[in-house]
Amino acid sequence: MRHYVRLQVSSLVTLCLCLVLTSALLTSLLTMRFSAPLERMARGMLLPIKGEVTSSGSRHDARVESLYVEPHFSGEFRKIMTSQPRTAGQEGNRSVLIRHPKKNDLDPQPVKPRKRFPHAGNVTDEDQILSRAPKCILMGFAKCGTSALLEFLDLHPKIISLDWEPDYFCDRMYQKYDLKWYVKRMPPSLPDQITIEKSPCYIVEHDAHHRIHAFNSSLKVLVLVRDPVTRLMSEHAHYASCQRYWGKTTQSFENRFYNNFTGQFKTEMILKVGDYTPHFQHLLQVFPRDQILIVDGDKLITNPLSQLSRIETFLGLQHEISREDLYFDREKGFYCMHLRQTGERRCMGKSKGRQHEQVNDQFKKKLANFLKPYKEKFFELVGDKFNWM
Ligand code: A3P
Repeated sequence: MRHYVRLQVSSLVTLCLCLVLTSALLTSLLTMRFSAPLERMARGMLLPIKGEVTSSGSRHDARVESLYVEPHFSGEFRKIMTSQPRTAGQEGNRSVLIRHPKKNDLDPQPVKPRKRFPHAGNVTDEDQILSRAPKCILMGFAKCGTSALLEFLDLHPKIISLDWEPDYFCDRMYQKYDLKWYVKRMPPSLPDQITIEKSPCYIVEHDAHHRIHAFNSSLKVLVLVRDPVTRLMSEHAHYASCQRYWGKTTQSFENRFYNNFTGQFKTEMILKVGDYTPHFQHLLQVFPRDQILIVDGDKLITNPLSQLSRIETFLGLQHEISREDLYFDREKGFYCMHLRQTGERRCMGKSKGRQHEQVNDQFKKKLANFLKPYKEKFFELVGDKFNWM
């Protein structure tokens, strides 16, 4: 009996050993067979590989000096390598996914389902109403009045603006969708109209600059700026509103941006968007200056026509938007639209023109002082001055 049990145990041990050996052998075979394709797949999707860093932009990308397309990398995806660090202290190469339009990629696309088209009354040939690639993009900055600007521009009969932010050229979307997908999402337009979209992530994600340039190198770029102090207050109002929505507690403006222990401003948080220079500097490395127009977000609030008129000239359009199209709404505290076709009066929604937190003047001054060198650097770069704190 004892002999029988010993025999059973030893055969069980042998079986286990065999199983372990076989699985080890299979694992090493599978690794050899699939590791290269997996790595290639990761490269195609631009997942970080080994020592590489992911491709989302940062303000330090302005240091990028040499970019080249890998010669052996063919097809829809181009990988751009840079030997420059992506952020301070991070060394090594990184990959940027760039998609160059193939034949027909940017062709106008049928609008499905057929959407409301405000200019339909003037259209003789219905087949001309198609989704067209944008010829102008508003790249940012967030909380500078981007939504109001696009809505106001839409008053122009030759401008058709997209009423949502596709964020297409930013990593999150670009890795998922191709150019045809993007063009199909554009609003219906006629051949002589200019489609405009806005996505504030474009200006701060520097890879988006390269992607937009690869998409259309003659595209016109709008960049909206605003006093960085009020911009930050607007960003804070947005944050506070989201916190309230999710039932979370809200930090005060001061606590959020100032460290009382160290007596220092939270540099990274404030400058990520609030220092316009590195972003604009990088944009200038990609697009010629005469294809970029800087729009004054503070004037857009006080005198929108002044900015709309500059944009009409920049886009080579007749000056069509006039005093009759806009009126100051006392209740809203901002300019609103007077739609000629319907006679309707329309203001921006509740999320635009929010009440800002009361911040004491001393703290605002301190913040303005902190931002002063960044502001001056920006003025020097653009060769213009804005009426900022
Ligand atoms: P606040 O809501 O903090 O006042 P964006 O559209 O880029 O998110 O910017 C929002 C900001 O646009 C608003 O910030 C508001 O100050 C500004 N804005 C400019 N013109 C406006 C208008 N006519 N109506 C509403 N908000 C406007």
